[in-house]
Amino acid sequence: MRTILVTGATGRVGRHVVDGLRAAGVSVRALVRTPERADLPRDVELIQGDINDPGAVKRAADGVDAAFLLWPSFSAYGAAEVVRELPRRVVYLSSLNAAPGSVWGDVEELLKGKDWTFVRPSGFAVNAQGWAGDFRTGEVVRVASPEASRSLIHEQDIAAVCVLALLGEHHIGRSYDITGPEALTQSEQIETIARVVGKPMRVEAMPDDVARQAMLDLGADPILAESSIAYFAALVDNPEPVTTTVAELTGRPARPFTTWAQDHAPEFRTPPTTPSTAEVARLYVDALKGGRLDEALALTSPDVVRVAPLETDGEEIELKGTEAILENADRLTADLVYDHIDVLGPLVLDNHFAIRFIFTHHNPRTGAPAHTTKLSLCTVTAGQITREEVFYYTPPRP
Ligand SMILES: NC(=O)c1ccc[n+]([C@@H]2O[C@H](COP(=O)([O-])OP(=O)(O)OC[C@H]3O[C@@H](n4cnc5c(N)ncnc54)[C@H](OP(=O)(O)O)[C@@H]3O)[C@@H](O)[C@H]2O)c1
Repeated sequence: MRTILVTGATGRVGRHVVDGLRAAGVSVRALVRTPERADLPRDVELIQGDINDPGAVKRAADGVDAAFLLWPSFSAYGAAEVVRELPRRVVYLSSLNAAPGSVWGDVEELLKGKDWTFVRPSGFAVNAQGWAGDFRTGEVVRVASPEASRSLIHEQDIAAVCVLALLGEHHIGRSYDITGPEALTQSEQIETIARVVGKPMRVEAMPDDVARQAMLDLGADPILAESSIAYFAALVDNPEPVTTTVAELTGRPARPFTTWAQDHAPEFRTPPTTPSTAEVARLYVDALKGGRLDEALALTSPDVVRVAPLETDGEEIELKGTEAILENADRLTADLVYDHIDVLGPLVLDNHFAIRFIFTHHNPRTGAPAHTTKLSLCTVTAGQITREEVFYYTPPRP
């Protein structure tokens, strides 16, 4: 069985490269900085180490047939020593912008003595994750150059091409410019996510100096911040190109940005919050006071258990499910007309709450009025009422 070393295996592309290689029956070894947090499949052999440490790379590369290389720095400083420790066959995750003098161009140059393949993607669709916080917490996304147009590529398409290159000798000495199937402006990308997520968002242009400062505040290198802003400004008039390389290599079209948005939609949605016991109790009491039984039932689990004494002999019966409970209630109250319900509560403690009801009713045949008082002790689990224990009693006369 062949063994392939994967660097950046815990990253957004690397995880799919690992999956693709395992699916092809390849034995995977990963160079990771923190094995305890790697969260990779059990059959992946983990070698602890930093990619900037040639000694760690040498240990990781010992005996492997090929390596997937990701160089996670903005400069090629130290890369020559690392490249020397790699096996002969290397597939390098480069960039469409691998011009000489860029980190990607410099690393490519260092790899020229190997059996190399350069996979050069356009902008990663997964960069759009940077807007997820804006989607979850507000209605506005602010970006520099909203009309900058990129042919964003899905991380699974990048990985698919990398895996093919790692598995086939005929890819040696080839560079692949890979992109998504269309170029979209940043405004269009945000609109696409908004449509998929079902939350309209406003796009606002961020002045370049504000964008620059925001990047510096996040610790970006000043030169890189400047070049990134200039790059996006240039993309307004000169969109990233669109290639058909993914389809030619994999046999199926590159995934559109809409697919990426669908795959990542949960990250852009506010996670539903589970209401607290106090909230459930308040809503339940409000609904009962207002005579809105449907609303009260909506707060109750369909599998709710109700424990109540039998009217006749005080023996307790346990009913399960709202249907059985409502049927029983209809039977017990068939001879009664309710004139008034007085609800007191709730009294909340941990995941329980108590309510006191005083029912004023009369028998339509005899006209005899009566009062019934009951205490309900409810249990709330995961935002729903899951148990109701009922106690009937006659309050002492004042
Ligand atoms: N974003 C784009 O638009 C774009 C476009 C073209 C090319 N690229 C290239 O794509 C690469 C990023 O890919 P990605 O998005 O899949 O990565 P990512 O999600 O940002 O993850 C980075 C990976 O590199 C590992 N790593 C970082 N520093 C390391 C170190 N010192 N030693 C060992 N491992 C280290 C991380 O491992 P840990 O678990 O240890 O953190 C993680 O697995 C970069 O080289 C970038 O230049 C990006």
